[in-house]
Amino acid sequence: MSAPRPVAALAAPAVREVRTAVRWGVQHGVPRLGVRRGARTGDLQSVLLADPATWREPYAFHERVRAAGPLLTGRFTCMSASHPVVREVLGGADFGVGALHDVPVPRLRRLLEWAGRDRPTHPVEPPSMLAVDPPEHTRYRRLVSKVFTARAVEGLRPRVEELAGELLDEVAGRGAGADAVRDYALRLPVAVIAELLGVPPHRREEVRAFEAGLAGSLEVAAPWRDVRAVDAALRGFDAWIGEHLRRLRRHPGEDLLSRLVAVTDDEADGGGRLSETELRATAGLLMAAGFETTVNLLGSATALLLQHPDQLGLVRADPSLWPGAVEESLRLETPVQLTSRRALRTTTAGGCEVRAGARVVLLLGAANRDPDVFADPARFDVRRANAREHLAFSAGRHFCLGAALARLEGQVGLRALFERFPDLRLAPGARRTTTRVLRGWRSLPVALA
Ligand code: HEM
Repeated sequence: MSAPRPVAALAAPAVREVRTAVRWGVQHGVPRLGVRRGARTGDLQSVLLADPATWREPYAFHERVRAAGPLLTGRFTCMSASHPVVREVLGGADFGVGALHDVPVPRLRRLLEWAGRDRPTHPVEPPSMLAVDPPEHTRYRRLVSKVFTARAVEGLRPRVEELAGELLDEVAGRGAGADAVRDYALRLPVAVIAELLGVPPHRREEVRAFEAGLAGSLEVAAPWRDVRAVDAALRGFDAWIGEHLRRLRRHPGEDLLSRLVAVTDDEADGGGRLSETELRATAGLLMAAGFETTVNLLGSATALLLQHPDQLGLVRADPSLWPGAVEESLRLETPVQLTSRRALRTTTAGGCEVRAGARVVLLLGAANRDPDVFADPARFDVRRANAREHLAFSAGRHFCLGAALARLEGQVGLRALFERFPDLRLAPGARRTTTRVLRGWRSLPVALA
């Protein structure tokens, strides 16, 4: 007969389930009710949260926000589609990140603290770098930047070229039925992140499985099913990364995570090191922030180039235009469509008052089509002189830490694809992603010859 399990062990899954339900209710369920009511009254922020049509085709919606002025004050939040205002808020000392799901009512906040007690580290909630303000952010970013240097990223170029070549060999083997997203855009960033984290090629699929699960972690007012799926993925990831870090400590490699572990373990001066939790959060953030974003860049740029043969002809004739094609794709089909900030004190943005505590939603995808900054903004132009002024990587202190790597993957990955298949064409059956924050293609069938 097996030994009886302690009561606490029997209760643990049930308690965890109750905690998840409470968290869902406070962070997603209550906002969902408000959002539905708001959408019926035409509140634009509620429409954005409630109507999937605005996620699939956001541009008409963006123009409604733009028409309302530099800063729209809605039922729950403020919102901006203006390039200068988005930039001002992202760079402003009066705005902080606040937790993605922060709750303004103290009693609900206490309930949430209880519900979040045994929760694994979340890539976009504290202590994640993306979700903290100075001074924590400054210390955290300084440490991670020590290993994520421009030189280290540039050093990855030959390996990214090699990985792209290997994956394209496999794409060629597929012949008819190849899919530029499933067979290539989805796989290159996984392979690159696995390199960063020191995961050997035969274990890449483990990384891929977590990334698929973490993608939903950016959504607010999400359905119960999705929140449970993200939680399960986070628990699995937490156990996996703990084990992986132990392995790297025993057998450090040349990868960035091994170096970050070394920096962390060396800087035992109390003020300048990452805790084990922060280290896990950083690995999770690199996965969550560096995966689907880059998939979307590769997928959208491939689609744009194939839909605009004249522009593709220009880059084929002059490969020095590849960086321009990447910037223009980031501008026109911005992979992270929006972010937000919370006012730390009563202040202004775009000349409008923003009260202390108010959240401002920043429509990066709309700012990147601001006609006052980008002439004829809906046109795809690989030679656009100011394409790099886009805000696809955000701005200010949270400017994407992986921007140089994303640019490298975009330039190397796209050039390799179009050089390998000079007659690449779109085939029927393309499908878009269906999320609000991340925009790209789920499937992009192609004919190789
Ligand atoms: C095309 C690809 C990418 C896009 C469009 C993108 C976009 C962004 C954006 C918009 C933010 C800031 C969000 C905010 O201000 O609220 C951000 C932050 C971040 N990204 Fe990226 N990203 C990409 C690729 C990557 C890659 C490849 C990595 C690393 C492997 C990465 C790592 C990070 C990190 C660590 C942060 C947090 C920086 C901080 O809070 O200081 N990103 N990214």
